[in-house]
Amino acid sequence: MEIERSIPRREKAVWQENPEWLFESAPEAIFVFDDDLQYLEANPAACRLLRRNKEEIVGCKIGTFSEDGARLAEAIRKTPVGDGVEASHTLILPDGSVRTVEMVTRPNMLPGIHLSFSRDVTDRRLLERELEHHTRLEAAGKLASGIAHDFNNMLTAILSYADLQLQHVESGSAMQRYVLGIQAAAERAAQTTHQLLAFCRRQKMQFAETQVNDVIQQSSELIGRLIGEDIELAFDLDRGIPEVWADAGQLNQVFVNLAVNARDAMPRGGRLLFATSKRGTEEKDKRVSIFVHDTGMGIGADVLPHIFEPFFTTKEQGKGTGLGLATVYGIVKQMKGEILVSSEPGRGTTFEIALPASRAAGAWVEPVTAKAKPNNMEHRPFAE
Ligand SMILES: Nc1ncnc2c1ncn2[C@@H]1O[C@H](COP(=O)(O)OP(=O)(O)OP(=O)(O)O)[C@@H](O)[C@H]1O
Ligand SMILES: [Mg+2]
Repeated sequence: MEIERSIPRREKAVWQENPEWLFESAPEAIFVFDDDLQYLEANPAACRLLRRNKEEIVGCKIGTFSEDGARLAEAIRKTPVGDGVEASHTLILPDGSVRTVEMVTRPNMLPGIHLSFSRDVTDRRLLERELEHHTRLEAAGKLASGIAHDFNNMLTAILSYADLQLQHVESGSAMQRYVLGIQAAAERAAQTTHQLLAFCRRQKMQFAETQVNDVIQQSSELIGRLIGEDIELAFDLDRGIPEVWADAGQLNQVFVNLAVNARDAMPRGGRLLFATSKRGTEEKDKRVSIFVHDTGMGIGADVLPHIFEPFFTTKEQGKGTGLGLATVYGIVKQMKGEILVSSEPGRGTTFEIALPASRAAGAWVEPVTAKAKPNNMEHRPFAE
C-alpha cells in the first residue's frame, strides 16, 4: 500500500498564509529590493550577515555596505529581466572588518520586486587558498626532493674526482686553476642542493631543549653586521617563554635568512624588530611565537602567495636565488612549527614563527592551528 506523505491540509493552509515563516527562518541572507535597487526587506539572517538591524538596512541601496558597491549595483542593473546575477563582493562591517560575500539575485519575483540571496564565503575562500597553497608547496617539495637527492650524489662524485685530480696536477699550473674552478662551482651547487633539502625537510636536525631568546641573542651579532648601520636592530623578548624542542643552529639560519630579506626590503634604512611571546595555556597547546618585523617595502598581494616556493624571487638576477624563505619554511616545518606572514606594501612585513613548547612535544603530531593567530595577523595560506 502506498503511503501518501504530505503536509496535513490544515497546516498547509496556515503555512501558505504565512510565507514569511520561510523568510524569517531561512539560514541564508535574503534581501528584497525594488527597481531602484533599494532594500525593502531583510530577513534575520541578512541582518546577521550585515551586522546591522533591519531599520538600518531598509531604505538603503544595494551596495551601500560594500567596498565595491557601485560595481555590484551596475552588475544588477545591467542584467536583463528574468536573469539572475551571481556576484561576489566585499562587505564592510560596522567595526571596519571585511567579509567576502557571494550573492545570487532572482529578479521580478513579483513585478518590480526582486530577491537576492547572500552568503558569507570568507572562511571557505581562505581555506581553499590555504589548501591550494599547501598542495603547490607539497608538489614543489616532492620535485625538489628528487632533484636534490640525485644532484647530491652527482656532486659528491664531481667533488671526489676534482679532489683526486688535484693530487696529480702541478701547483700553479693552468690545469690546477681549472680543477679549482670545477671544485668551487660544484661546492656552490652543493650549497643550493643543501638549501633544497632543507625545504624538503630532509635536514639532519640536532634537536635539544632550546631557549629561543638565547638563540636570538647569539644570532644578533651576525645579524647586526649583515644589516648594516642604517637599520636599527631592536628586541622585545619575553623572558617568560618556555623552551622549545629545536635545533639552535637551524634556528639561527632561519633568523639570518629573515634578517637578510628584511635588509633588502629596507634599502634606505629602517627598523628590524625581533620579539618573542608565549601562546596557549594548555600544556599541549603551549607555543613560543617569534615575530620578525621590518619597516620595509612590504610584499604585494600578488607576490605573497609565492614567497615560500623554492626559486621564487623578485630580486634581479644574481641578487637572489629564491631559496631563503623555502629553507625557512622547511626548517620550521621540520620543527613542527607554523609560519605566518602579514604585510602591508609600503609599511613593512611581519613573519611569525610559532614553535611548540618542548614539554608539549608529545602532542607534536598536531600542527599548530589557526587558533595561534595573533590579533590582526592575517593567516596566510601556510597552515597544514
Ligand atoms: N621582509 C620582506 N620584505 C619584502 N619582501 C620580502 C621579504 N621577505 C621576502 N620577500 C619577498 O619574497 C621573495 C622570496 O624571498 P627568499 O628569501 O625566498 O628569496 P630571495 O631573498 O629573493 O633570494 P635568496 O634568499 O635565495 O637570496 C623575495 O624575492 C622578496 O620578493
Ligand atoms: Mg632571501
